[in-house]
Amino acid sequence: MKKKLVISTGAGMSAESGISTFRDAGGLWENYNVMDVASADGFRRNPALIHQFYNDRRRQLVEAEPNAGHLGLVDLEKDFDVYVITQNVDNLHERAGSSHVLHLHGELMKVRATDDPDLIWELKPGALETTPATRIEGHQVRPHIVFFQEAVPNIEPAIQLAMEADIFVVIGTSLAVYPAASLIQFVRPGVPVYYIDPHPAEVPAGVTVLRMTASEGVAHLARILRGE
Ligand code: APR
Repeated sequence: MKKKLVISTGAGMSAESGISTFRDAGGLWENYNVMDVASADGFRRNPALIHQFYNDRRRQLVEAEPNAGHLGLVDLEKDFDVYVITQNVDNLHERAGSSHVLHLHGELMKVRATDDPDLIWELKPGALETTPATRIEGHQVRPHIVFFQEAVPNIEPAIQLAMEADIFVVIGTSLAVYPAASLIQFVRPGVPVYYIDPHPAEVPAGVTVLRMTASEGVAHLARILRGE
């Protein structure tokens, strides 16, 4: 029976793929006001600006490739039952080949009907741009992203995964945004917790901090977990 390895990733996981993080120097929130481009109020105020913000991020994503960190997590599936919970809206975990990926904050390559949250479409390369005038099957669409001020529907299954973890790993997140940052609190006592981040945030005592990038940290973690 393989041990359940639950991995919680943030923007730092995709930094080495060339995708900018949010709160590092030069990050997205240095160049945009988060409440204008990633909040429910912002969408009501200026939907065209939000469509354009996500159009830009989709263009950047199609040029990006999974990095060694993403691929290292796929390799761990040989020896562990690996579940990825990600705050990231990119599809790099999927493109790397991870079998189980749970998105907490939505998915950049998808849009959904503004009048029916259950109607979701994947945008195809060559048709990645949307505007408030875009219609799919007669429906106006919005990015399939959890904006600030909106609920995080997948937090329940994510908490369930954290509670079932035999090993819990946090990679590349500043642990600044809730409820994602609270997942670490749901890990059973005695379950080993690792945190891979070159500039780690404060974490509870007992967490093993690997002060490394995602690619270096995942390779190092694999050696630890395999007892090498
Ligand atoms: N490898 C690993 N971690 C890295 C790397 C790297 N190469 N480069 C930077 N980091 C780390 C930073 O040290 C930081 O701790 O990644 C983290 C990025 O933090 P944030 O930019 O705050 O990203 P994140 O924690 O994912 O933000 C959470 O905030 O704006 C919202 O919805 C958005 O999902 C996002 C959420």
